[in-house]
Amino acid sequence: MKVGVLTGGGDAPGLNSAIISIVKKCERYGFEAVGIRYGWAGLLECDAVPLNYADVEETISRGGTVIKTSRTNPLKIPDGIKKAVENFRKLGLDALIAIGGDDTLSVATALSEEGLPVVGIPKTIDYDVPETDFTIGFDTAVNTAMRLIENIKDTADAHNRVFIVEIMGRHAGWIALYSGLAAGADLILIPEEPFSIQDVTDFVKRKMDKERSKGVVIVVAEGALIKDYKGPVTKDATVDQFGHVRLGGIGEFLAKEIQKILGVETRSCAPAHMIRGGSPTVLDRLVSMRFGLAAVDLVKKGRFGQAVALKGGKIVTVPLSEISGKTKTVSKELYEEAKVFFE
Ligand code: F6P
Repeated sequence: MKVGVLTGGGDAPGLNSAIISIVKKCERYGFEAVGIRYGWAGLLECDAVPLNYADVEETISRGGTVIKTSRTNPLKIPDGIKKAVENFRKLGLDALIAIGGDDTLSVATALSEEGLPVVGIPKTIDYDVPETDFTIGFDTAVNTAMRLIENIKDTADAHNRVFIVEIMGRHAGWIALYSGLAAGADLILIPEEPFSIQDVTDFVKRKMDKERSKGVVIVVAEGALIKDYKGPVTKDATVDQFGHVRLGGIGEFLAKEIQKILGVETRSCAPAHMIRGGSPTVLDRLVSMRFGLAAVDLVKKGRFGQAVALKGGKIVTVPLSEISGKTKTVSKELYEEAKVFFE
């Protein structure tokens, strides 16, 4: 049995752990593991390398992905799916484990519908994949973001400044909300709850009147929406093959507005990709490991068209079609619960 494994979309800490456990379990079952490099691009170009446990075991503490990644989308390339199916056969693969977020898993779903034996593993720092309590990389990203926000808090308080920290997460506010709450941010703005500039300036004014000797730290998710504005703030108009615009700039925009309206010194900073790499946390290493082991078990049992997931601490399976094309966002209830800290 020859098992291909690929990682697609943005890199995330914990990917190497999943790869290591896939390779280990394949060796245990006497399967041959093959790394398809650069995500779906590798399948379109037959770019595959043999994977041996001895070659990958040392990568457990490293972020990124040892088999590389890309945002190539076969669904957007003429005959992309046909070519992927042909190359799957050309490479002599018997199964494919695709590790990725919604984009990668939507391609996995399309290939599965074409009859390819595919298994999925959910990965994204954004945590926006539905039907699972864990996505590879979120825990590390949220911990890194928390520490960076804490650092900004020190400076904000020392200078009595207003700081806006813009945090990645695409159209979901998970990273911003979790890291902001954990770091004790004064206000957190997420895409799920559009806000007005007036709300924010009123908040800053109230806060500064109340606690004159402290700074104010506002965490804003990169995809947060301003009421009555046309969509999120973007870096430029270019879109990737999955149709995503490059988000970013809302922090800077907000800082300028606050300074203009209130006349208080307001700075912005955007850790951006600084939260995406780095050494994975214990949780990211261990659950990724369990995902990898479970994925090879699905291959052994011939249970294709499924993704592994974590629910209530247990590894479960979910049909790929139930994940594909859906986004898990922060619920109104959860945001309401957090609002007690935004006073
Ligand atoms: O999906 C992970 C993520 O880091 C998002 O939070 C962010 O919007 C996007 O990727 C950035 O992608 P890229 O590195 O391709 O610009």
